[in-house]
Amino acid sequence: MVEKKQNGGKNVFATKVGAILAAAGSAVGLGNIWRFPTEAGTHGGAAFILIYVGFMLFLAMPIMVTEFAIGRHGGSDVADAFEKMSGGRKGWRWMAMFPVVSGFLVLSYYAVVAGWTMYYAFEAITGGFVGKGTADFTADFGSFVSSPVQPVGWTALVIALTCAIVALGVQRGIEKGAKIMMPLLFVFIVFLMGCSLSLPNADLGLQFLFCPDFSKVDGSVVLSAMGQALFSLSVGLGCLCTYACYFRKDVDLMKDGVTVAGIDTMVALFSGVIIFPAVYSVPGLSPDAGPSLVFVTLPNVFQELFGGSPVMVYVLSVVFYLLLVMAALTSSISMLEMSAVYFHAKRGMSRPLAVVLVGVVCLVLGTFCSLSFGEWSDVKLFGMTFFDLFDYLVAKFIMPLGGMLMCVFLGWVVDEKVMRMEMTNHGSIKSPMYPAFRLIVRYVAPVCIILVFLNELGFFSFFE
Ligand code: PFF
Repeated sequence: MVEKKQNGGKNVFATKVGAILAAAGSAVGLGNIWRFPTEAGTHGGAAFILIYVGFMLFLAMPIMVTEFAIGRHGGSDVADAFEKMSGGRKGWRWMAMFPVVSGFLVLSYYAVVAGWTMYYAFEAITGGFVGKGTADFTADFGSFVSSPVQPVGWTALVIALTCAIVALGVQRGIEKGAKIMMPLLFVFIVFLMGCSLSLPNADLGLQFLFCPDFSKVDGSVVLSAMGQALFSLSVGLGCLCTYACYFRKDVDLMKDGVTVAGIDTMVALFSGVIIFPAVYSVPGLSPDAGPSLVFVTLPNVFQELFGGSPVMVYVLSVVFYLLLVMAALTSSISMLEMSAVYFHAKRGMSRPLAVVLVGVVCLVLGTFCSLSFGEWSDVKLFGMTFFDLFDYLVAKFIMPLGGMLMCVFLGWVVDEKVMRMEMTNHGSIKSPMYPAFRLIVRYVAPVCIILVFLNELGFFSFFE
């Protein structure tokens, strides 16, 4: 099939729904199903979630629409997009380094956790969960993640699969992958939610999720909620800006932004509804188990549900881990694309070569991150292991910084008329939220990020 071209021969998503699904595919991932319950569980549940939803509405979603506008206006690649939207100022081209550099950083550690999910999916499919107990799951997880070889092999498999999809190109790889995997993901989520809600103490889990206790809120909770909202929507790194370069000119950016943010928030909350009622239904388990929640706590839960029927243990574990694998892949392809497209479009490499280059570098960095859980657990930079450092840099530093710069760019540098024309598709659609959007982009988002940063640096102690 010949791919459709737009602006200077660049690829575009063939359909409007393909564009939404690809962006939603990038957004919905381990961030929703693994990171969100982990963060919500360790930061007290409902209060964290409320703050997270606030950041989603007033920060992450506007930044996403900002990325959409910049990318789609440029239509070719991120560097050209910034130059074109600024009215030809070449100085803004350096913003394109955000996606290139952060693509490497984020994929390197994300692929490690994605590798764990793939190993767990494999274990589930081969019946490895049936008949095991708590002690087995804890020991298995510990010995798996700390092994120097096995998790690296699974990380390599994730990266190889991601490379294969991205190498196929925008329509045949990214768009098609999202169109197949996203609907399946929803079916799996609804099935698992139904199972979880039918459990004995489901109401306690829902209470944990939805009844806030603000005494648990401090500065780190606020920073984490902001990091989680940005991470979950894939904003601030230029990833969605990269995807938006492939959007058709008739896509309604604001509507798509709201749709993608809505889908993403829903999936995060639904993951909470799958996980916490299940955790509360088994005596002795706690929601604040941290990163091992979905790898130790949940397999344990599966054993106890439905009278421990081996068939149900098998079905639940296979469905759940396949769900995680698919969610991870639709996100990892967006991470690889944002770095690879630079080497392809700007450095003249063929798409497959650019993809392999990025994949190999990510595997090397990913190996460092994987070793953080075993042999290199004592190797620390700024007091953090490689894995924690990469996560910190991406979610709590580059994303807010990049998001703020993009808002300042669109709100203060770009001519207001250019911005309005882009948001209204040259006046052909109404955009009733435009004034509110402009206000957030110019004032609310930058100020909010600066305040959270200052608080993190200890300038004032708002929440202590
Ligand atoms: N939003 C993805 C998730 O929730 O898993 C993670 C992600 C994708 C972060 C792409 C950053 C990115 F550029």
